[in-house]
Amino acid sequence: MLVFGFSLDTTTPYHLGLSSIHQRQQFLRTTTFLPSVAVPVGGDDVLTSHDDNNNDNNNNNNNNSSKNSNPALFHTVQGVVCREVTNELPVIGTVAVLEATADSQEDLVNECLELEEEEEFEIGVDVAEGDPYGAVLWPAAWAVSNYMLSRPDLRDNLNSLSIVELGTGTGLVSISVAMGGAKRVIATDYEPLALALTRYAADNINSSSSSRIETQLLDLCDLEQQPLPVQGIDIVCAADIMYEPKTGVAMAHRAVEALRNNCRVIIGDSPGRAGRPAFLDTLNELGVEGAEFQETIGKTCSGPRNDLICGKGSTSVSDTPQELSVALLDLKPNMLKG
Ligand SMILES: C[S@@+](CC[C@H](N)C(=O)[O-])C[C@H]1O[C@@H](n2cnc3c(N)ncnc32)[C@H](O)[C@@H]1O
Repeated sequence: MLVFGFSLDTTTPYHLGLSSIHQRQQFLRTTTFLPSVAVPVGGDDVLTSHDDNNNDNNNNNNNNSSKNSNPALFHTVQGVVCREVTNELPVIGTVAVLEATADSQEDLVNECLELEEEEEFEIGVDVAEGDPYGAVLWPAAWAVSNYMLSRPDLRDNLNSLSIVELGTGTGLVSISVAMGGAKRVIATDYEPLALALTRYAADNINSSSSSRIETQLLDLCDLEQQPLPVQGIDIVCAADIMYEPKTGVAMAHRAVEALRNNCRVIIGDSPGRAGRPAFLDTLNELGVEGAEFQETIGKTCSGPRNDLICGKGSTSVSDTPQELSVALLDLKPNMLKG
């Protein structure tokens, strides 16, 4: 569950600007959780290729000026219109994931705002569904993918490794390691839309990953009732999920759960996330020694971003992908003492 009302890159609360959007809300509620359908935009029976910059002028001031020389490919997944975003990675080359378009991001954000409205305009209430952050890509996903595909001890053994990803979002990490040959990948998230985007991209766009990827709903904060699926798993990984202290604390407990089950834990985190200090403190309290994030290269993202997903001036986005310093932590089971 997400405490909404904060953009991921800042701790400044936003004026939520609640408006009456019942039709949109109804649309989302009735479509978000239906099975995915490959519906090309425009009703064609092939995927539509066009420039979506015209649609992206409403909500964000970060990078709408980006003019992509390659026209985007669009897909509709569970009623959410998405565009293909390509990423270049070592060994495997191009991996495409799906990001909600600017209009779809606005719909998702409005869903969260409407849920808050139902809670009598409180800022910071729990929103059980409609966390919009996983509908776009974040910089640490590229960093974690790159790490697992590049490091000799991981890369050379990938085909014998089974991997669980927490908070998979658009699925870049899971799809990348599956394309790199991982034996088995379980992509998890608490948001069904994120899993649908990952499943769709694995099955329809990056088909060499398809048979190796499973998806599973998992709330990483529900420590009591939802254990990690660690049986036969070698690595538990996550990218850019610690945007709240609560999630940082939960991630520390999940890391220890994984280490106790003899898994390696690999976490990527973009600069300035609010959950990282809480994560490190909790990890220390739980007896993990020597946990230190190292700086590594991530990539900024360059699609449109709603202001309530990425605040103005966010370091996560730029007109074209740029290198960005991302923190990466690699924990081994012997780092858990006691
Ligand atoms: C900022 S996005 C990052 C997505 C992706 N890992 C990436 O780097 O592009 C955070 C993701 O974590 C998921 N998430 C947040 N809180 C969660 C929780 N308590 N349990 C499971 N997933 C969660 C969100 O749904 C979203 O997909």
